[in-house]
Amino acid sequence: MTLGIGTGSTARFFIDELAGKIAAGMSFRGVPTSNETNDLALAAGVEIIEPDASTIINLAVDGADEVDPNLNLIKGGGGALLREKIVANASQKFIVIADSSKRVAALGAFPLPVEIEPFAWALTVRAIHETVETLGFRPQKMELRIRNGVPFKSDGGNLIVDCALGAIEAPARLEAGLLEIPGVVECGLFCGMADIVIFGDGDETSIQQA
Ligand code: A5P
Repeated sequence: MTLGIGTGSTARFFIDELAGKIAAGMSFRGVPTSNETNDLALAAGVEIIEPDASTIINLAVDGADEVDPNLNLIKGGGGALLREKIVANASQKFIVIADSSKRVAALGAFPLPVEIEPFAWALTVRAIHETVETLGFRPQKMELRIRNGVPFKSDGGNLIVDCALGAIEAPARLEAGLLEIPGVVECGLFCGMADIVIFGDGDETSIQQA
């Protein structure tokens, strides 16, 4: 089967499982959602493919930073949100794996990552500020993501702004508003995309379906 392979510390467990299955004789083709996952999946023995218009991704598996009761997500803590969203959107089934600490009553305690074009980025941040205020948020913080003293760049070469907005009661509305801003490439809200979330809690799992 063809898999979409997520990014992050939880997705890594999934790649480890794939490695075990491959060692036992199974084979998988995969579309990785980041350069890091590309390397891990390759090392696990997954055949990495470059999708074309006829590619069918049967199943994508990825982690999340927050999951609300309607299975809306915040993703992008690792900065791979754009590729993750492209792959999840193209997949026949999207399964999220997360430890139970990711389950929240409302999204928003985790600052929302918004991926933006580097050109004139400060103008885009200003526009994000204006949009979220229009939508009723009073942003606590809106910061360009910095790593090792320099602006973090996604695999696609874009910047990330982490937006602490407080509780997000209507995530689809916020997502639509953000995506209308020129300069915003993608945001970390994944609304109505997850088919199944598998929460891990110690040795127990619980499964929630959309
Ligand atoms: C990567 O950009 C993210 O969307 C991750 O999927 C998300 O941050 C979850 O990561 P962890 O599994 O490391 O918590």
